[in-house]
Amino acid sequence: MLKGRSLIDPMDFSKEEIEEIFALASKIIENPQEYSHAADGKILATLFYEPSTRTRFSFEAAMLRLGGKVIGFSEPNSTSVSKGETIADTIRIVSCYADIVAMRHPKEGAPKIASMYSEIPVINAGDGGHQHPTQTLTDLLTMSKIKGKLSNLTIGMCGDLKFGRTVHSLIKALSRYENNKIILISPDELKVPNYIKKEILDKNNIEYEEVKRIEDVIDSLDVLYMTRVQKERFFNEEDYIRLKDSYILDKNKLLKAKDDMIILHPLPRVNEISYDIDNDKRACYFKQAKFGMYVRMALMAKLMGVL
Ligand code: NCD
Repeated sequence: MLKGRSLIDPMDFSKEEIEEIFALASKIIENPQEYSHAADGKILATLFYEPSTRTRFSFEAAMLRLGGKVIGFSEPNSTSVSKGETIADTIRIVSCYADIVAMRHPKEGAPKIASMYSEIPVINAGDGGHQHPTQTLTDLLTMSKIKGKLSNLTIGMCGDLKFGRTVHSLIKALSRYENNKIILISPDELKVPNYIKKEILDKNNIEYEEVKRIEDVIDSLDVLYMTRVQKERFFNEEDYIRLKDSYILDKNKLLKAKDDMIILHPLPRVNEISYDIDNDKRACYFKQAKFGMYVRMALMAKLMGVL
Protein backbone atom coordinates (compact mmCIF):
# COMPACT_ATOMS: atom_id res chain seq x y z
CA MET A 1 0.00 0.00 0.00
CA LEU A 2 1.62 3.22 -1.16
CA LYS A 3 -1.04 5.61 0.12
CA GLY A 4 0.25 7.99 2.79
CA ARG A 5 3.90 6.93 2.43
CA SER A 6 6.92 9.15 1.81
CA LEU A 7 9.70 8.53 -0.70
CA ILE A 8 13.08 9.50 0.73
CA ASP A 9 15.43 6.75 -0.43
CA PRO A 10 15.24 4.68 -3.64
CA MET A 11 14.94 1.52 -1.52
CA ASP A 12 11.88 2.76 0.40
CA PHE A 13 9.59 0.94 -2.01
CA SER A 14 9.77 -2.74 -2.95
CA LYS A 15 10.37 -3.82 -6.52
CA GLU A 16 6.69 -4.74 -6.72
CA GLU A 17 5.64 -1.28 -5.53
CA ILE A 18 7.88 0.29 -8.15
CA GLU A 19 6.24 -1.96 -10.75
CA GLU A 20 2.86 -0.72 -9.57
CA ILE A 21 3.96 2.89 -10.11
CA PHE A 22 5.36 2.04 -13.55
CA ALA A 23 2.16 0.25 -14.54
CA LEU A 24 0.17 3.36 -13.70
CA ALA A 25 2.70 5.60 -15.47
CA SER A 26 2.32 3.47 -18.60
CA LYS A 27 -1.46 3.83 -18.50
CA ILE A 28 -1.12 7.59 -18.09
CA ILE A 29 1.28 7.76 -21.05
CA GLU A 30 -1.24 5.91 -23.21
CA ASN A 31 -4.17 8.04 -22.26
CA PRO A 32 -3.22 11.17 -20.28
CA GLN A 33 -6.63 12.77 -20.75
CA GLU A 34 -8.27 10.09 -18.68
CA TYR A 35 -6.25 11.20 -15.64
CA SER A 36 -6.67 14.94 -15.95
CA HIS A 37 -9.05 15.13 -12.97
CA ALA A 38 -7.57 12.37 -10.82
CA ALA A 39 -6.20 14.84 -8.27
CA ASP A 40 -8.92 17.49 -8.42
CA GLY A 41 -8.84 19.53 -5.22
CA LYS A 42 -5.40 18.30 -4.15
CA ILE A 43 -2.44 20.58 -3.48
CA LEU A 44 1.26 19.89 -4.00
CA ALA A 45 3.76 22.01 -2.06
CA THR A 46 7.19 22.31 -3.67
CA LEU A 47 9.78 23.32 -1.09
CA PHE A 48 12.97 23.92 -3.03
CA TYR A 49 15.88 25.13 -0.93
CA GLU A 50 18.24 24.64 -3.87
CA PRO A 51 18.06 25.67 -7.54
CA SER A 52 16.16 23.49 -9.99
CA THR A 53 14.14 23.91 -13.10
CA ARG A 54 13.55 20.46 -14.44
CA THR A 55 12.67 18.66 -11.26
CA ARG A 56 10.46 21.39 -9.86
CA PHE A 57 8.66 22.01 -13.13
CA SER A 58 8.29 18.31 -13.64
CA PHE A 59 6.58 17.92 -10.25
CA GLU A 60 4.44 20.98 -10.84
CA ALA A 61 3.44 19.97 -14.35
CA ALA A 62 2.67 16.47 -13.07
CA MET A 63 0.30 17.82 -10.42
CA LEU A 64 -1.37 20.26 -12.81
CA ARG A 65 -1.88 17.48 -15.35
CA LEU A 66 -3.61 15.43 -12.66
CA GLY A 67 -5.98 18.33 -12.07
CA GLY A 68 -4.42 19.44 -8.77
CA LYS A 69 -2.86 22.74 -7.75
CA VAL A 70 0.59 23.82 -6.65
CA ILE A 71 2.04 26.11 -3.98
CA GLY A 72 5.67 26.50 -2.97
CA PHE A 73 8.95 28.32 -3.18
CA SER A 74 12.16 28.02 -5.10
CA GLU A 75 13.84 30.89 -3.32
CA PRO A 76 13.87 30.12 0.42
CA ASN A 77 15.20 33.59 1.19
CA SER A 78 11.78 34.99 0.40
CA THR A 79 10.13 32.87 3.12
CA SER A 80 10.27 32.47 6.91
CA VAL A 81 13.20 30.15 6.36
CA SER A 82 15.28 33.32 6.20
CA LYS A 83 13.95 34.23 9.67
CA GLY A 84 15.43 30.99 10.99
CA GLU A 85 12.43 28.68 10.89
CA THR A 86 13.37 25.01 11.25
CA ILE A 87 12.45 22.36 8.70
CA ALA A 88 10.34 20.65 11.34
CA ASP A 89 8.21 23.76 11.82
CA THR A 90 8.00 24.57 8.11
CA ILE A 91 6.76 21.08 7.33
CA ARG A 92 4.24 21.05 10.19
CA ILE A 93 2.70 24.18 8.76
CA VAL A 94 2.82 23.03 5.15
CA SER A 95 1.12 19.79 6.27
CA CYS A 96 -1.88 21.92 7.25
CA TYR A 97 -2.16 23.45 3.78
CA ALA A 98 -1.14 20.81 1.25
CA ASP A 99 -1.72 17.11 0.49
CA ILE A 100 1.81 16.18 -0.61
CA VAL A 101 5.27 17.77 -0.53
CA ALA A 102 8.27 17.63 -2.85
CA MET A 103 11.40 18.89 -1.13
CA ARG A 104 14.88 19.63 -2.44
CA HIS A 105 17.56 20.63 0.05
CA PRO A 106 21.34 21.14 -0.05
CA LYS A 107 21.73 19.24 3.26
CA GLU A 108 21.81 15.47 3.11
CA GLY A 109 19.00 13.99 5.20
CA ALA A 110 16.82 17.13 5.29
CA PRO A 111 13.82 15.52 3.51
CA LYS A 112 14.08 12.56 5.89
CA ILE A 113 13.81 14.91 8.89
CA ALA A 114 10.87 16.62 7.20
CA SER A 115 9.10 13.28 6.71
CA MET A 116 9.40 12.59 10.45
CA TYR A 117 7.43 15.71 11.29
CA SER A 118 5.03 15.67 8.37
CA GLU A 119 1.39 14.65 8.35
CA ILE A 120 1.45 14.24 4.57
CA PRO A 121 3.73 12.30 2.16
CA VAL A 122 7.14 13.88 1.58
CA ILE A 123 9.05 13.20 -1.62
CA ASN A 124 12.80 13.74 -1.65
CA ALA A 125 13.52 15.77 -4.78
CA GLY A 126 17.28 15.67 -4.13
CA ASP A 127 19.23 16.09 -0.87
CA GLY A 128 22.77 17.41 -1.29
CA GLY A 129 25.15 14.88 -2.82
CA HIS A 130 23.10 12.05 -1.36
CA GLN A 131 20.00 10.69 -3.11
CA HIS A 132 17.46 11.60 -5.79
CA PRO A 133 14.86 8.82 -5.83
CA THR A 134 12.41 10.34 -8.33
CA GLN A 135 15.21 10.80 -10.86
CA THR A 136 15.87 7.10 -10.33
CA LEU A 137 12.23 6.23 -11.03
CA THR A 138 12.60 8.32 -14.18
CA ASP A 139 15.80 6.52 -15.18
CA LEU A 140 14.40 3.05 -14.52
CA LEU A 141 11.16 3.75 -16.36
CA THR A 142 13.12 5.11 -19.33
CA MET A 143 15.37 2.06 -19.46
CA SER A 144 12.52 -0.38 -19.12
CA LYS A 145 10.48 1.38 -21.80
CA ILE A 146 13.30 1.68 -24.32
CA LYS A 147 15.47 -1.36 -23.57
CA GLY A 148 12.49 -3.47 -22.49
CA LYS A 149 14.22 -4.72 -19.34
CA LEU A 150 16.08 -3.74 -16.19
CA SER A 151 18.30 -6.78 -15.96
CA ASN A 152 21.09 -8.32 -18.05
CA LEU A 153 22.37 -4.88 -18.99
CA THR A 154 25.83 -3.35 -19.05
CA ILE A 155 25.43 0.18 -17.74
CA GLY A 156 28.17 2.79 -17.90
CA MET A 157 27.92 5.75 -15.53
CA CYS A 158 30.18 8.59 -16.45
CA GLY A 159 31.28 11.90 -14.97
CA ASP A 160 30.92 13.12 -11.41
CA LEU A 161 30.24 9.89 -9.57
CA LYS A 162 31.38 11.38 -6.27
CA PHE A 163 28.88 14.19 -5.84
CA GLY A 164 26.25 13.04 -8.35
CA ARG A 165 23.25 12.00 -6.28
CA THR A 166 21.40 10.63 -9.31
CA VAL A 167 24.18 8.08 -9.77
CA HIS A 168 24.12 7.06 -6.11
CA SER A 169 20.39 6.45 -6.22
CA LEU A 170 20.51 4.64 -9.54
CA ILE A 171 23.24 2.24 -8.40
CA LYS A 172 21.21 1.47 -5.29
CA ALA A 173 18.05 0.78 -7.26
CA LEU A 174 19.80 -1.30 -9.94
CA SER A 175 21.37 -3.53 -7.30
CA ARG A 176 18.00 -5.26 -6.96
CA TYR A 177 17.84 -6.40 -10.58
CA GLU A 178 19.57 -9.51 -11.89
CA ASN A 179 22.80 -9.80 -13.75
CA ASN A 180 23.60 -6.19 -14.51
CA LYS A 181 27.17 -5.04 -14.92
CA ILE A 182 28.06 -1.51 -13.89
CA ILE A 183 31.02 0.33 -15.36
CA LEU A 184 32.01 3.43 -13.42
CA ILE A 185 33.78 5.97 -15.62
CA SER A 186 35.37 8.92 -13.81
CA PRO A 187 38.63 10.64 -13.00
CA ASP A 188 40.24 9.51 -9.72
CA GLU A 189 38.99 12.59 -7.90
CA LEU A 190 35.35 11.95 -8.78
CA LYS A 191 35.03 8.24 -8.08
CA VAL A 192 31.91 6.76 -6.47
CA PRO A 193 32.12 7.05 -2.65
CA ASN A 194 33.41 3.98 -0.81
CA TYR A 195 30.15 3.42 1.05
CA ILE A 196 28.40 2.79 -2.25
CA LYS A 197 31.02 0.26 -3.29
CA LYS A 198 31.04 -1.56 0.04
CA GLU A 199 27.43 -1.39 1.09
CA ILE A 200 25.72 -1.68 -2.25
CA LEU A 201 27.92 -3.10 -4.98
CA ASP A 202 29.98 -5.54 -2.90
CA LYS A 203 27.17 -6.55 -0.59
CA ASN A 204 24.88 -7.45 -3.48
CA ASN A 205 27.64 -9.09 -5.52
CA ILE A 206 27.17 -6.68 -8.37
CA GLU A 207 29.78 -6.98 -11.06
CA TYR A 208 31.49 -3.62 -11.52
CA GLU A 209 34.59 -2.02 -12.89
CA GLU A 210 36.16 1.44 -12.48
CA VAL A 211 37.78 3.01 -15.53
CA LYS A 212 38.97 6.44 -16.59
CA ARG A 213 38.24 6.57 -20.31
CA ILE A 214 34.87 6.25 -22.08
CA GLU A 215 36.64 5.12 -25.26
CA ASP A 216 37.92 1.96 -23.56
CA VAL A 217 34.48 0.64 -22.66
CA ILE A 218 31.86 2.30 -24.85
CA ASP A 219 31.59 -0.69 -27.21
CA SER A 220 30.36 -2.93 -24.37
CA LEU A 221 27.58 -0.66 -23.07
CA ASP A 222 23.81 -1.03 -23.38
CA VAL A 223 23.20 2.19 -21.46
CA LEU A 224 25.52 5.18 -21.06
CA TYR A 225 24.45 7.44 -18.19
CA MET A 226 26.25 10.78 -18.48
CA THR A 227 26.38 13.29 -15.62
CA ARG A 228 27.39 16.89 -15.04
CA VAL A 229 30.35 17.79 -12.83
CA GLN A 230 28.52 19.12 -9.74
CA LYS A 231 30.06 22.58 -9.52
CA GLU A 232 28.05 23.63 -6.47
CA ARG A 233 29.50 20.83 -4.34
CA PHE A 234 33.17 21.64 -4.94
CA PHE A 235 35.15 23.31 -2.21
CA ASN A 236 37.38 25.22 -4.58
CA GLU A 237 36.97 26.61 -8.05
CA GLU A 238 40.38 25.41 -9.30
CA ASP A 239 39.44 21.76 -8.86
CA TYR A 240 36.17 22.34 -10.67
CA ILE A 241 37.86 24.05 -13.60
CA ARG A 242 40.42 21.26 -13.86
CA LEU A 243 37.78 18.52 -13.86
CA LYS A 244 34.80 20.05 -15.61
CA ASP A 245 35.69 18.95 -19.10
CA SER A 246 36.88 15.47 -18.19
CA TYR A 247 34.33 13.89 -20.49
CA ILE A 248 32.70 15.22 -23.58
CA LEU A 249 30.64 12.71 -25.48
CA ASP A 250 30.74 13.47 -29.19
CA LYS A 251 30.19 11.82 -32.57
CA ASN A 252 33.69 10.44 -32.63
CA LYS A 253 33.42 8.65 -29.32
CA LEU A 254 30.05 7.22 -30.36
CA LEU A 255 31.53 5.52 -33.41
CA LYS A 256 32.41 2.43 -31.41
CA ALA A 257 29.13 2.28 -29.47
CA LYS A 258 26.45 -0.35 -30.11
CA ASP A 259 23.69 0.64 -32.46
CA ASP A 260 21.06 0.15 -29.76
CA MET A 261 22.96 1.68 -26.85
CA ILE A 262 20.96 4.44 -25.16
CA ILE A 263 22.42 7.67 -23.83
CA LEU A 264 20.77 9.07 -20.71
CA HIS A 265 21.49 12.22 -18.70
CA PRO A 266 19.46 13.58 -15.75
CA LEU A 267 20.11 17.08 -17.14
CA PRO A 268 21.01 19.92 -17.02
CA ARG A 269 23.95 19.27 -19.28
CA VAL A 270 26.81 21.71 -19.30
CA ASN A 271 29.14 20.48 -21.99
CA GLU A 272 29.54 16.77 -21.28
CA ILE A 273 27.34 15.90 -24.26
CA SER A 274 28.11 17.62 -27.51
CA TYR A 275 25.06 19.16 -29.21
CA ASP A 276 25.92 17.40 -32.43
CA ILE A 277 24.66 14.08 -31.10
CA ASP A 278 21.25 15.31 -29.97
CA ASN A 279 19.73 13.97 -33.17
CA ASP A 280 21.43 10.59 -32.93
CA LYS A 281 18.76 7.94 -32.33
CA ARG A 282 20.67 6.75 -29.27
CA ALA A 283 20.29 10.11 -27.51
CA CYS A 284 17.34 9.57 -25.17
CA TYR A 285 17.80 12.33 -22.57
CA PHE A 286 14.90 14.47 -23.72
CA LYS A 287 12.56 11.48 -23.82
CA GLN A 288 13.83 10.65 -20.34
CA ALA A 289 12.74 14.08 -19.06
CA LYS A 290 9.24 13.41 -20.38
CA PHE A 291 9.08 10.01 -18.71
CA GLY A 292 10.06 11.87 -15.53
CA MET A 293 6.87 13.88 -15.56
CA TYR A 294 4.69 10.82 -16.15
CA VAL A 295 6.35 8.80 -13.43
CA ARG A 296 5.86 11.70 -10.98
CA MET A 297 2.17 11.81 -11.91
CA ALA A 298 1.88 8.12 -11.09
CA LEU A 299 3.94 8.43 -7.92
CA MET A 300 1.96 11.34 -6.50
CA ALA A 301 -1.38 9.76 -7.40
CA LYS A 302 -0.38 6.58 -5.54
CA LEU A 303 0.99 8.39 -2.46
CA MET A 304 -2.13 10.55 -2.23
CA GLY A 305 -4.27 7.45 -2.74
CA VAL A 306 -6.32 8.92 -5.58
CA LEU A 307 -5.54 6.13 -8.09
C1 NCD B 1 20.12 16.38 -11.24
C2 NCD B 1 20.18 16.80 -9.78
O1 NCD B 1 19.58 17.80 -9.40
O2 NCD B 1 20.83 16.08 -9.03
N1 NCD B 1 19.21 17.14 -11.96
C3 NCD B 1 17.89 16.77 -11.97
O3 NCD B 1 17.27 16.57 -10.97
N2 NCD B 1 17.33 16.59 -13.17
C4 NCD B 1 21.43 16.34 -11.90
C5 NCD B 1 22.28 17.56 -11.88
O4 NCD B 1 21.92 18.60 -11.34
O5 NCD B 1 23.37 17.47 -12.44
